[in-house]
Amino acid sequence: MVLAKDVYTPEGQVLLKVDTLLTPRYITKLQQFKIETVWVTEVLPEDLSEEEYGQLLMEEEVKVAYHEAVHVVSRVFNDVRTGEALDVPTVRNTVTQLCTSILQNDSLLRHVDKIYTYDDYTFAHSVQVCVFTLILAKALQYTEHQMINVGTGGLLHDIGKTRLPVEFLNTPRKYTPEEFELVKEHARLGSEILMESDGVPLVAVRMAGEHHERYDGQGYYRGLQGGDIHPFSQITALADVYDAMTTDRAYRSALLPQQAIEYLLNSSGTAFNPEMCRLFVKSVAIFPIGTVVQLTNGLLATIVEVDAGIPYRPVVGVIDEPGGKVNNLIDLRARNDILIAKIMLPSEVVQLKYEVKPY
Ligand SMILES: [Fe+2]
Repeated sequence: MVLAKDVYTPEGQVLLKVDTLLTPRYITKLQQFKIETVWVTEVLPEDLSEEEYGQLLMEEEVKVAYHEAVHVVSRVFNDVRTGEALDVPTVRNTVTQLCTSILQNDSLLRHVDKIYTYDDYTFAHSVQVCVFTLILAKALQYTEHQMINVGTGGLLHDIGKTRLPVEFLNTPRKYTPEEFELVKEHARLGSEILMESDGVPLVAVRMAGEHHERYDGQGYYRGLQGGDIHPFSQITALADVYDAMTTDRAYRSALLPQQAIEYLLNSSGTAFNPEMCRLFVKSVAIFPIGTVVQLTNGLLATIVEVDAGIPYRPVVGVIDEPGGKVNNLIDLRARNDILIAKIMLPSEVVQLKYEVKPY
């Protein structure tokens, strides 16, 4: 069953959010809080295969890990803003959880619904950048310890923003030139905060200080170039730009993943190291074979073939329903007019396939 309303603890804190799939673990949790009734919206079909149920559970766990991480970032940033020490153990714990999710299944975390509000844009963005740096570290076959170090840098790359006036953190508009000069300070401030905090790996200090540097030396705050920028600062830069472009902001709407990827590729050799850019595209813009997607022309399709050179323009097979037969193939390499609009999550696939009835 799926929750129709948020569930609160007796103290009034949200225990489970609307749209949560009630797993055995959550049911135990509800019992611990002596919550006997909840609103449910749908009942899972009984003929769900074990694999489908497993995917739903995994999706749920990933969502929970993601939301908890956003919550932790917001708390940790607030601590630093109010002059308290950076809670490094909690940060590492959160990164470890995200790392575990990525080692199990990175395609889900790549596509987890972004629920950005203006209030927590910086926090959700930090989690997203952390996820991308972890995916890249995994692709580079880093050890788990190294992955957690770079993930820590990803999660904290914008910590310097806590030293700026609070309205700068989540401003829903573009900065004026004077404001932008001030905002640029966050990179230097971030590296200082991390340098002074116990237990922060050096790579994280560099990622905070260097994530706005650009390959051609046109970035800030030091104007470093090429190989002088740490590889993981370069990856953070790519993740930062990619995530910002694929997120709705008040002053512009989000680009589709393929459009953002094409922008990055156009800046390859200038803003970004071509090799890092290729690696980022290969690791982030991938659609596993069999993934159900919706195209910008409204059709439902499944990924049939992926060209390793252009992974963001796969060959898709048009379908009427998930699991149904392929009607015809579209090679997106040859069709610049069609893009992938949306990747369907397991819960959405199940809904389409079984026409889940309202309870
Ligand atoms: Fe930044």
